[in-house]
Amino acid sequence: MDLNDIKNSYRLWAPVYDKTFGAVSSIGRRRAIKHLNTLSGHVLEVGVGTGLSLKHYAPHMQVTGIDVSPHMLNKARKKIERKNLSNVVDVREMDARAMEFPDNHFDAVVAMYLISVVPDPEQVIAEMARVCKPGGEVIIVNHFARDQGPLSVAEKAIAPFANKIGWHADFPLERTQGQKELVLREQINFPPLGIFTFLRMQKQNQSNAA
Ligand SMILES: C[S@@+](CC[C@H](N)C(=O)[O-])C[C@H]1O[C@@H](n2cnc3c(N)ncnc32)[C@H](O)[C@@H]1O
Repeated sequence: MDLNDIKNSYRLWAPVYDKTFGAVSSIGRRRAIKHLNTLSGHVLEVGVGTGLSLKHYAPHMQVTGIDVSPHMLNKARKKIERKNLSNVVDVREMDARAMEFPDNHFDAVVAMYLISVVPDPEQVIAEMARVCKPGGEVIIVNHFARDQGPLSVAEKAIAPFANKIGWHADFPLERTQGQKELVLREQINFPPLGIFTFLRMQKQNQSNAA
């Protein structure tokens, strides 16, 4: 899937997203934000989409969101305006593989249902780590591939349609664990059937990462 495929796919998803995938995936989104609301400072949401998460952030959390799809972002902007979400400081079009933010900038960086969508997930995680402050948290919520069972059969059946549906159903969790400055602190699978996983990683202080 290249960036044009993604933009085309999410142009079609945008009008129906909140009532389809957005609705069935809400449990993971709420879990991540419940945790983020225990922190303080500025959170970057990578692949913010239609902004389904935004109203759940506590007012003390500043939020910036980025996404490559202008159609998804338009939906997010409407929600921000309608709900008067003044703690959302910015949502803008940006490629998660090459973010226009300085190093060590955000207190936390979160990507929900993004990592199996992007063309180069390792590069996106490297960017998430780069823009996160040392000691800050990088959170990923996603569906990851199973080794066995009925879900793994379904994943393999859906996988060839990645370009059409807009994500890779058979994405392995191991591909999120290659950044040596990020230490895995927590991994939780959610009902129903543990389809979605919450990963909480912490960016080490530079002296510990060497
Ligand atoms: C499945 S949606 C998830 C949206 C939102 N995080 C949520 O929880 O509903 C994936 C989003 O990732 C965005 N995306 C895909 N590739 C991207 C990239 N390289 N940079 C930024 N956003 C990207 C898509 O445009 C889409 O809005």
